[in-house]
Amino acid sequence: MSLSFHSCIVICLDGPAGSGKSTVASLLSSRLGWPHIDSGGIYRTLTLASMSKIGKGKSAEEFGELFSSKKIKPESLDCKIIMQKTNQINYIGSRDIKSEIRIPDVTSRVRYIADNHEYRDYVNSILRSFTKNQKGLIVDGRDIGTVVFPDSPMKFFLETSPSIRSIRRKNELQEMGCETSLKEITSKIEKRDHEDRTREVGGLRKAKDVVMIDTSELTLDDVVSRIVSHLK
Ligand code: C5P
Repeated sequence: MSLSFHSCIVICLDGPAGSGKSTVASLLSSRLGWPHIDSGGIYRTLTLASMSKIGKGKSAEEFGELFSSKKIKPESLDCKIIMQKTNQINYIGSRDIKSEIRIPDVTSRVRYIADNHEYRDYVNSILRSFTKNQKGLIVDGRDIGTVVFPDSPMKFFLETSPSIRSIRRKNELQEMGCETSLKEITSKIEKRDHEDRTREVGGLRKAKDVVMIDTSELTLDDVVSRIVSHLK
């Protein structure tokens, strides 16, 4: 088994929404000086670009129907994912769409993009391309250890209790100026978990050789230290 992709060590961080993957990944990135790739951010960027192409004012279901009937090619969306030192920047045209991709309208539509096999292959090839000329990489998502880099020996699955995940999500939304009840957030998280876990290809599953980390009782620094100790 090859230890890495193009001699690059890939730390795979998978887990459900709100499990702390992206925060852990950016802390790891600062600690190791390796780039952090947020695969969910790429799915979100493609979703936002498809939303502009399909037109405003459509419900999530209408968007899903139009997206599948129009057969929009991912290459036609004018999205670029650039790595600037260790930071990923997502562009649509020349626009950096950093915070726009986190809005609830994108979150409720991203599943239609993530369910599409052509789009999954497209995202996976972008993710693999980042291993070139890199010593190490931290990639977070749902299928990173199972589908994208199955040969990586550094696979971690972060888990957290649903109540803690809902509180984290509420705080994130509050920072973005969106006030939503905890009950509504919990039900949306449960819906997304179900969609992510039951996705036929690229669904959220645990690789056989994955290291499970429950982040409910640990500080994020503890999680980072645990991962770094595996690296050593
Ligand atoms: O990680 P984040 O919550 O931003 O991901 C948004 C969505 O993108 C997920 O709910 C999932 O539908 C999709 N996704 C995926 N595979 C990945 C990363 C994200 O299907 N590797």
